[in-house]
Amino acid sequence: MGSLLVDGEKLSSRYVPPKLPYRDQQLALLRGFLGSVVRGEAVSPRVALLIGPTGTGKTSSVLLLHKALANEGWAHAFAHVNMRIAGDTPFQLFAALYESVAGVPASRSMSAYELLRETVATLRREGLPALLVFDEVEFHARTALRSAIYALTRLHELQAAQVAMLFIARNLDWLKLLDPAERSTLGNVVVRYPPYTREQLLGILAYRAQEAFRAGAVGEDVLSWLADYAHTYMQSDVRRALDTLLLAALIAEQEGASKVEIRHIVAALKQTEVFVAPAEVEQLTLYEQLALYAALRASRAKPYARLSEVWEEMLSLAEQLALEPPKPEDFEDIVQRLVDLGALLSEGPTRIAPAPTLNVEAVTSVLRDALKTRVKAV
Ligand SMILES: Nc1ncnc2c1ncn2[C@@H]1O[C@H](COP(=O)(O)OP(=O)(O)OP(=O)(O)O)[C@@H](O)[C@H]1O
Ligand SMILES: [Mg+2]
Repeated sequence: MGSLLVDGEKLSSRYVPPKLPYRDQQLALLRGFLGSVVRGEAVSPRVALLIGPTGTGKTSSVLLLHKALANEGWAHAFAHVNMRIAGDTPFQLFAALYESVAGVPASRSMSAYELLRETVATLRREGLPALLVFDEVEFHARTALRSAIYALTRLHELQAAQVAMLFIARNLDWLKLLDPAERSTLGNVVVRYPPYTREQLLGILAYRAQEAFRAGAVGEDVLSWLADYAHTYMQSDVRRALDTLLLAALIAEQEGASKVEIRHIVAALKQTEVFVAPAEVEQLTLYEQLALYAALRASRAKPYARLSEVWEEMLSLAEQLALEPPKPEDFEDIVQRLVDLGALLSEGPTRIAPAPTLNVEAVTSVLRDALKTRVKAV
């Protein structure tokens, strides 16, 4: 136990918190949807899709609901199969499902279909309603998932059982890989998980911090900075925000600091996010240096610049340095490379901003020198 953290594990993504703020609506929807199955009153299997970007609480909300139902005395069989981890063959998928339901390893001598029948037989023997969750289905949507849907929805024994199947994915693109009949067996119940707003992120971070930290070990200003950052640069992914907070806490503890400060968060970001240090600037090509310099100049007075403004700066810099300007199509590639390197961030197709982890003054002065010597050498 460190000096700042009471329980760092509480920030890990394996931990399912007892509450999921801002997901009441999704939890209520799911609960209503599963109600008839857990009560044993469903006339046929129920299927729903849970859709939302990464780190929006999809997996956690299902795990939380499973726990809540069990605590309330609604006994049920529960299987959570992650398609990415399970693998891309129907055998791997049904083996994972079987192991989850039966609690013992699947026999290698059985076929995929036999395993599925065995799974259903186990469910029937137990006489329990079943909640079957297929997570990250966009992986292997073309292979394992297709045959799974085919088999699951045509299996006669399953039709009579009390079963709810939840398919979790980041978006609906994978549905295009299915044919219309497969798609229609998935039904049209969609529970959406929109990205969190800045305020919601702050609320979540405050809640999770209060579980993990000693009182007063991390201030609201720090959490608010991180919420801002995660909202702008991490697509509101709570998992990445929590990972950053945990790493920042460990850095602060190592330093013997009495509180987590913004500089610890920045240090954590530098370790985890792609980061351009001044020394790396010298490794950039001349035109990359020029484009980076142009982007920094164009965004001097505001948090971002338009791509067209960066292009204008680039042309005027090239002229001052008596350099041939790049072709517009090359310019786009150069900017993209700087984005890939983590020096610039693109917000939408036309907005560019220096990465918050970029030490703008240091990089600007290195660039100025580098450009001077480079141009002399040309
Ligand atoms: N509303 C919330 N309140 C508290 N913690 C949350 C909330 N939403 C997400 N989290 C936390 O964020 C992390 C990511 O959540 P989760 O794994 O459920 O996301 P996901 O939507 O399944 O993402 P992915 O698509 O990447 O699998 C977990 O640690 C979870 O506890
Ligand atoms: Mg998930």
